[in-house]
Amino acid sequence: MEGGQTAVISAATALRTPRAQAQATKPARCKRVLHFVFPVIAAIASAGCGQQAPPQSDRPIGKIITIEAPLGLPPIPVPADDPETAEGVELGRRLFYERRLSAGNVLSCASCHNPQLCFTDGQKHSTGFQGKTGTRNAPTVMNAAYFPYQFWDGRAASLEDQAAGPIANPVEMNQTHDISVSKLNADPSYRAAFEKAFGPGRITINRVEKAIASFERTLISGDSPFDRYQFGGDKTALSPAAIRGLAIFRDQSKGNCAACHTIGQNYALFTDGKFHNIGVGVDGEGNLVDQGRYSETKLDPDRGAFKTPTLRNVALTAPYMHDGSLKTLRDVVDFYAGGGNSNPYLDPKTREIKLSAQDRADLVEFLQSLTGKLPADAGPPAETRTEQSE
Ligand code: HEC
Ligand code: HEC
Repeated sequence: MEGGQTAVISAATALRTPRAQAQATKPARCKRVLHFVFPVIAAIASAGCGQQAPPQSDRPIGKIITIEAPLGLPPIPVPADDPETAEGVELGRRLFYERRLSAGNVLSCASCHNPQLCFTDGQKHSTGFQGKTGTRNAPTVMNAAYFPYQFWDGRAASLEDQAAGPIANPVEMNQTHDISVSKLNADPSYRAAFEKAFGPGRITINRVEKAIASFERTLISGDSPFDRYQFGGDKTALSPAAIRGLAIFRDQSKGNCAACHTIGQNYALFTDGKFHNIGVGVDGEGNLVDQGRYSETKLDPDRGAFKTPTLRNVALTAPYMHDGSLKTLRDVVDFYAGGGNSNPYLDPKTREIKLSAQDRADLVEFLQSLTGKLPADAGPPAETRTEQSE
């Protein structure tokens, strides 16, 4: 299982590399082409090339800081082109709570990822621009830094890739990147904060994404009663019921939950970072309402498959599943006992399991022991506090 966890992290790093490479090769390609062109044309073209603003570096410039992983979690993966700096994190925190990133200045990331609800919104489906609702439940952003894919269908490969999506999404914040950037540009305090974090240059959506992702990498929560029991050697940290629940969770002939919600040797992410069809979102006729991962890969076995969510802090993040269809943890456990809704793409690891009433109560008690310590300094910064508390 430990090997699986390592793979999750290296996959996350590997996935980021091609994008970084593509960015790095852009200016070089411009030069190389010019070398082969007839000299006069080359001179004109190179003058044209020179007139464009020089490509600015969007790499944070400050002193690199390390976000310490709490008990039960591995080191936090950080991409090479977006190191953590105090200035980047502070700016990202401000942006996360910034309503000017939405049309009409009404919504921020925190509208749907509310720190008081462990960075979810407590709703079945999120309410976005002018009350529009999507079809999926808002997952927590807490510990998302560890996931090799973002979104239920994994359509973003990193927090950087994810961050700009909701701003322009018409059912979310519904504001183009150009308008978002120009609103920030109009505020001298933002211009100063961006220069402090990234050095001289324009505010770009790339800088916005990077700052938000840097802040999100500080949203790490571990050191739960389970971690103190499992990794901290404190055998009194869990109640007898939770200890029984843990055994059912791991037992392949009982819950078999850890087959997907992974517990490693030295840490536990409670996700394998993969996609499974466990039979959620199937209508009365056995049809899948949402194709999930399939819409990204177009591979049949991915029909109705969704990312295994982490179970850390799961007691704080109801309702559950990609469609928010299950209200309580007890509902989730009853759902698994039933083997998931039958459909042709059901994961073979999802099958009917025999759980007594006591087993089910124990599993719920175990899931409740996964509530960890939340980081300080995760709420709105002073500048936006009054705005957010309306
Ligand atoms: C209108 C509500 C809404 C707003 C505003 C919003 N989100 Fe989300 N967020 C969601 C929903 C719903 C999903 C799941 C969508 C999906 O998987 O298709 C999601 C998914 C995510 C994820 C993926 C987490 C995971 O485990 O896969 C991250 C990270 C995230 N949002 C960060 C942000 C950031 C950063 C902002 C602001 C720029 C933001 N969100 C604004 C509703 C919202
Ligand atoms: C085959 C892999 C697999 C197994 C086995 C499995 N899960 Fe899951 N779990 C998932 C996936 C995938 C989802 C999301 C499914 C969706 O939304 O369509 C999920 C969702 C959940 C959620 C909802 C979390 C949230 O934030 O919405 C809980 C709680 C949960 N599982 C607990 C369990 C328990 C308890 C067991 C054992 C009885 C278990 N899981 C077994 C893959 C698995």
